Amino acid sequence: MRHFINLKDIPVKDLRKIISDAKKRKNLRKKLNHLDLDKDAPLKGKLLIQMFEKSSLRTRLSFYLAIRQLGGSALTLRPNELHLSKGGESIEDTAKILSNFGNAFMLRTDNDKKLDEFKKHLSIPIINGLSPSSHPTQILSDIFTVEEIKKKPIHKLNIAWIGDCNNVLNSLIAASIKFSFKLKIGCPKEYNPLKNIMDYIKKNDNKIIIYSSPKKAIVNADVLFSDKVISINDKVNKTKKLNSFKKFKIDEKLMGYAKKDCIFLHCLPRGTEVTEKVFSSKQSKVWTQALNRVHVQKSILLYCFGKLR
Ligand code: CP
Ligand code: NVA
Repeated sequence: MRHFINLKDIPVKDLRKIISDAKKRKNLRKKLNHLDLDKDAPLKGKLLIQMFEKSSLRTRLSFYLAIRQLGGSALTLRPNELHLSKGGESIEDTAKILSNFGNAFMLRTDNDKKLDEFKKHLSIPIINGLSPSSHPTQILSDIFTVEEIKKKPIHKLNIAWIGDCNNVLNSLIAASIKFSFKLKIGCPKEYNPLKNIMDYIKKNDNKIIIYSSPKKAIVNADVLFSDKVISINDKVNKTKKLNSFKKFKIDEKLMGYAKKDCIFLHCLPRGTEVTEKVFSSKQSKVWTQALNRVHVQKSILLYCFGKLR
């Protein structure tokens, strides 16, 4: 049994195995419907319990389909209907019940410490479905998407991020270190990554550069990532932050500084960080990106169950 909480704690050889398993499984499903099972149905009889303390559309749907296609089933808990959220039950007791009734737990949380606390008391795998500090299932899936579209390993590509230094970027930074790819980040100075992330970059890598100019970040890029300026539960002065990011809005002119065949990725939901024109252009691969989460999360589940081929 293995947990999937942060990319930085997972050996790259395992991350690679997840990606290649997802590729094989995706290829085998070309003619199947969403609810058709993979032939081997390796998680038959298994129950994934998922809980969202924050809103979600894609993660919820993609984990549901992922476990179903592997032969198992999913149950989604609403935190406000549990004793846990009202303080009437401890994480320890909740975790014990989850472990007795289910086979894996996927948690989207507003507090990183809860992931560790659950991990301590669960006897089933826990998957981080987004926390304030990371979004590892999204980024591993995005690496799959990049390599699928570009037909090259990610370390041969120039990756750029223009936008807020948030949970999604933190996972992209961890991925850059794990997979050894070049990453240029463009964001206003006052919104640079937090000190612990800066220290992590300094300690591990020299392939990540942070610019306060969006143009410098995107020059020569093969792939451009972005995300909302204001994340869910972001407790900042929103008007001030949105104002600082105005110069970082991704439009056709800015895209013109990247390579001609640069693709645009965005985990969604979107805000005002990208123009409609870029978002709906041929370069934008956001819908493929969203769908690929099903395939990669299936292999993440198999990794957690110790069933990767
Ligand atoms: N990208 C992503 O995680 O989307 P949701 O918040 O809708 O799950
Ligand atoms: N950074 C965003 C990602 C949403 C999938 C957030 O945390 O709201």
